[in-house]
Amino acid sequence: MNILVIGNGGREHSICWAISQNPKCENIYCAPGSDGISEVAESINIDISNITLIIEFCKKKCVDLVVIGPEGPLEKGLSDQLSSANIQTFGPSRNASKLESSKVFAKKVCKSFNGLTARYEEFDNIESAKKFLNSTTYPIVIKRDGLASGKGVTIVENEKKAIKTLNSIFKPDSKKEKILIEEHLTGEEVSLFIISDGVDCLSLGSAQDHKRLLDNDEGPNTGGMGAYSPAPVLTKEIEEKAILDIVKPTINEMEKRGTPFKGILYAGLMICDGLPYLIEYNVRFGDPECQVLMMRLGGQILDVILDCLNGNLKNSRVNWANDHALTVVITSKGYPNEYNRGSVIPNLSKIKEHTNLKIFHAGTKKRSGLYYSNGGRVLNVTTRGENLKEVQRLAYRAVSKINWEDGFYRQDIGDKGIKN
Ligand code: AMP
Ligand code: GLY
Repeated sequence: MNILVIGNGGREHSICWAISQNPKCENIYCAPGSDGISEVAESINIDISNITLIIEFCKKKCVDLVVIGPEGPLEKGLSDQLSSANIQTFGPSRNASKLESSKVFAKKVCKSFNGLTARYEEFDNIESAKKFLNSTTYPIVIKRDGLASGKGVTIVENEKKAIKTLNSIFKPDSKKEKILIEEHLTGEEVSLFIISDGVDCLSLGSAQDHKRLLDNDEGPNTGGMGAYSPAPVLTKEIEEKAILDIVKPTINEMEKRGTPFKGILYAGLMICDGLPYLIEYNVRFGDPECQVLMMRLGGQILDVILDCLNGNLKNSRVNWANDHALTVVITSKGYPNEYNRGSVIPNLSKIKEHTNLKIFHAGTKKRSGLYYSNGGRVLNVTTRGENLKEVQRLAYRAVSKINWEDGFYRQDIGDKGIKN
C-alpha cells in the first residue's frame, strides 16, 4: 500500500515509524513532514491546507490510504474532502470532530446519556458568567469552547482570578465567545485511546501525559512534557467501566445524530474515588502519548486502521506484549513562552537507536548533517521495555547523552507510575 500521513510533529513521526514496519506498507509519505520524519517516510513539502494539492499528490502517487494526525485539518473537514474525492481516509469527519472542537458539544453529548463528567454551566456573555460567580465555590474551571492548542482551560482559585480570566476571554472587540464554567475535579488524570468505526470500539491502550512544564506537576501547562503507557491508574475494571459508561454511549449517540465517529477517540479521564469522569474528548492521538502507544503497537496499528475502515473492527485484536513505553520530551529553553530556534544538537547523531529506543522529532531541522532545534517541543526520547523503571532509566540515559545545553526536560517522567 501507498500511505500518506498528514502532520509534522513527533506524533506523526511515530505513526510513520510504526506503519512503515507493517509489510503491507510499500511506500510511506508524510505531508508536510520534517527532516526527522524523512528518516522513515518521504516528506512532501506541500501546504496541507490546500486540498487540491493533497488530492493531486494522492492521485499521482496512487495513495491507498491517508492518515490524518492533528486536530486542525480534521476540524476543517479534510477527512470529508478526501473521502469525497474517493481517497480512503482515516480520521473523523468535520461533524464528528466537534467532540474535540467544541467543548460545549462534547458536554451535551455526555449529558444525553448521563455520563460521569464535571457539572457545568454554559455562557455566551460576560454579564451572566459574572453573575454565576456570586453563587459558586472555588476552585472552578473556565473553558473556552473552541480549539485553543491547550491554552483554553484555566483553573481559578478565587473570584479575582475568575474575573480576570473572563475579561481576557470576553474582550469588547473580540468575536462571539462561548465558555463553560465547570466544577473542579480532583483525582488522577489518564488518557484512554479508542479506535471506532462508528459502531464498534477497540481499546488501543492508556497513557499518562505530563502537561505541566516542571517536575511534580508544577509550572504552566504545555502541550505535554512526557508520557508513559500503560497507565497503572487505569485498571482493567476502570477501563471497562469508562468504555461501557462513557465511550460506547458516545459512539451510539454520534451515530444516532447521523454523524458517526470513525477514527481515534482520545478520552481524557479523571479518576475520582475509583470512578472515571470524562474531562474532555480529543479526536486524534495525543502528542506525546501517541509516541508511547506506537512504540508498543508497532506495525499492528496499520492492521487495526484497515480493520476499522473495512468495518471489521469487531473481529480486530491487538496483540499486547507485556511491555511498557515511556517518552521524555526535550523542549527549547523558554517553552511554552518565547524560545529560540536554530540551536545545534551536536550529540544527537551519537545516539544509537534500536527497537527499544527511538528518538521522534517534534521540531528539528537538518543542515549539513546536523540537527538544529526548530520548535518549542524538539525531541521525544522514547523507550520500550519490560517495566516502567527500566524504560525510565533507558530514556534518561539517552537524554543525558544528548546533553543539549539549550534544551530543557522534566526529570520525573514515569515517577508517578512507578509509585502506583
Ligand atoms: P482540557 O483541555 O479540557 O483537557 O483541559 C486541560 C487540563 O485542565 C486537563 O488536562 C486537566 O488537567 C484540567 N482540567 C480540565 N477540566 C477540569 C476539571 N473539570 N477539573 C479539574 N481539572 C480539569
Ligand atoms: N498531550 C495532549 C494532547 O495531545 O492533547
